[in-house]
Amino acid sequence: MSDWGILGAGALGCVFAGLLRQQGHQVSLLLSERHRGHLHPGMDMITLGGHHELIHTRPLFAEQAGRLSRLLVTTKAYQVVDALRGLRGLPTDCPVILLHNGMGVTDAVRELLPHNPILVGVTSHGAMKESQWQIRHTGKGETWIGPANQAARNYQHLCQPLATAFGHAQWSENIDALQRQKLAINAVINPLTARYDVHNGDLLEPRYLDVLEQLIEEVHQVMRCLGDTETLEQFRRRLHRVMELTATNYSSMHQDLAHGRPTEIDYITGYILGQARQHQLPAPVCRQLYQEIIKRSPGKG
Ligand code: PAF
Repeated sequence: MSDWGILGAGALGCVFAGLLRQQGHQVSLLLSERHRGHLHPGMDMITLGGHHELIHTRPLFAEQAGRLSRLLVTTKAYQVVDALRGLRGLPTDCPVILLHNGMGVTDAVRELLPHNPILVGVTSHGAMKESQWQIRHTGKGETWIGPANQAARNYQHLCQPLATAFGHAQWSENIDALQRQKLAINAVINPLTARYDVHNGDLLEPRYLDVLEQLIEEVHQVMRCLGDTETLEQFRRRLHRVMELTATNYSSMHQDLAHGRPTEIDYITGYILGQARQHQLPAPVCRQLYQEIIKRSPGKG
């Protein structure tokens, strides 16, 4: 069984650690400075079936990155570059798989780690932190990975262990398109659920119909300009399916705001607004939501 490093001990990173451990892989969890000098008990993972599983991972700190042979990055988008920059002696042949929401980070990672195979992952698994050492797997989804630089072209073999552990993992040569499709979903669900303080499924209620529809149209227009071929109706249907499947979940942006953490608004709505500007599209609902979320984000506003 292989060794996996996980950078980003949030809900999703810990659930992935748990799923890999269940298959007998060694998992090293890279911890930040504030965890140094503390004891690290096993994690309690609540599975999709509601069972409790004790998960043991190996704690690792930035200066021990030389031991890594494959790395899943599950930090928030705004933490990715600083967290990777902090690692000491990461081997140049260690593949780095970026799994954050939103877009606009990959270029900086390619620049920071010019020799490492860089891959982008898109996942629809759901996870929640119940407390510091307890995490809940809230939804099983698909995971796609694909190359983000030349060095990552021959890393299809990473899919097999991930598919066994996560239930699905597949290679895509066109991972950018899948990342954009996820971005479009996040650009609608995340700011609206955070703004109105509701579950994902609540957005299907009639009172959100107008704002939802306007936002769908704005995001869809931007996606078309970025080369996406999905029709408005196809996008609407895909979005409704996600809202139904995750109806009782709070989106990650809702959870971030509720816990007083920074959000990924700059990499989701901010990215859409940047593209809208370049293509001279007005996107007024996106802009309004961006301003409202920024106002409520810690350290901003
Ligand atoms: O960011 C999230 O919460 C998720 O990507 C999604 C799909 C919106 C479901 O909650």
